[in-house]
Amino acid sequence: SGVITIDPGYKNSGSCKSEVTFLDGELGILRYRGYSIEDLAEKAHFLEVSYLVIFGELPTTEQLVQFENDIRKHTLVNEEMKNIIDGFPKTAHPMGVLSALTSALTAFNPKSVNVENEKEMYEAVCKTMGKFLVIATWTYRKSMGFPLNYYDNTKGYVENFMRLMFELPTGPYQADPVVVSALDKLFILHADHEQNCSTSTVRMVGSSHAGLFASISAGVSALWGPLHGGANQAVLEMLEEINKDGGDAEKYLSKAKDKNDPFRLMGFGHRVYKNFDPRARIIKKAADEVLATLGVEDPILEIAKKLEVAALEDEYFKSRSLYPNVDFYSGIIYRALGIPTDMFTVMFAIGRLPGWIAQWKEMRENKEPIGRPRQVYVGYPLREFKGVDKR
Ligand code: CMC
Repeated sequence: SGVITIDPGYKNSGSCKSEVTFLDGELGILRYRGYSIEDLAEKAHFLEVSYLVIFGELPTTEQLVQFENDIRKHTLVNEEMKNIIDGFPKTAHPMGVLSALTSALTAFNPKSVNVENEKEMYEAVCKTMGKFLVIATWTYRKSMGFPLNYYDNTKGYVENFMRLMFELPTGPYQADPVVVSALDKLFILHADHEQNCSTSTVRMVGSSHAGLFASISAGVSALWGPLHGGANQAVLEMLEEINKDGGDAEKYLSKAKDKNDPFRLMGFGHRVYKNFDPRARIIKKAADEVLATLGVEDPILEIAKKLEVAALEDEYFKSRSLYPNVDFYSGIIYRALGIPTDMFTVMFAIGRLPGWIAQWKEMRENKEPIGRPRQVYVGYPLREFKGVDKR
């Protein structure tokens, strides 16, 4: 009833109340459950932050050990899932496969669909954290034609990610601690970002009481787009293109400013941040450290730096408050760590998983109503039907 206001892209509409993440786009502040992203990225580990985001408090040592153990219990994925993976062509994009496999988990874990009490909720959380990591790496193993790996219970979550990805039957894989720690930090920086496109999708799908796996599968699809998580892949492809084209950053800056050219500077701009993205600041520092420690000299990084400096001084970017976002630097680190470009958005998904879970859980616990936006109809008024012979 009443007047319907439309707000395309929900630029000024809140969809819920949330206690998970605080974000001030003007000041460039990001906090999970009241803790600053700077503190968490520097002092905590990914599973610790996941626990915080999902359950609301930092875990005690006991709670953390329990959480890690409970996740570990759920890292075996049904063998039949392998048949599904085998059905995909090797060339399939890992995000498409990840979304399909996450949805397929529902078939093998029907109990996680209707979460009715705290115990079932906790189990669904641990299951999702365990299985999602494994299937995320399987999308890569499949594309490479490698045999699928299993979780190693003697190793941590992030270290397992590297092993699951890269260990071959020819011998054990030793993850470089520098790499593991950089990845841990990247996952923390991605853990939640309030009502972004994929998270809103997870909440919207979940609001019909669809289960956690189905809701997260929808979140993966939303994240895939180049305006959202897919930007990290797009940034690297853009930098590679500039490099091939002679490394002229100014030329691409001009293209981005040209309103007749659809090209946008990928990794720049944000719906909410009208100041430096605090995550980009942390990632930029981490990128420098990782590249120095691993001894990587990457011409792509030089181009990224040139682009950043040029854009930050440019009137077009300044007047529109377009700053580098989290995706601008993450791809450079992933590349230095040996992660293939088409897996970048999957990395984002692994990091964002606790946020999606936390928001789905909050939505269910708050007993939020089904999401059902209205519209303003602008089509034809009533028309007279004419039979096909009269059209
Ligand atoms: N390059 C050139 N111009 C831009 C860019 C860009 N990257 N981003 C925004 N603009 C311009 C845009 O053309 C518009 O100009 P005008 O006012 O003259 O029409 C103005 O800035 C405002 O842009 P908008 O598209 O209305 O802003 P939005 O809030 O709808 O979009 C965005 C936000 C992130 C989708 C957009 O900035 C963009 O496309 N950036 C590139 C893709 C990207 O890096 N995405 C990652 C986002 S951060 C993390 C994540 O979600 O994954």
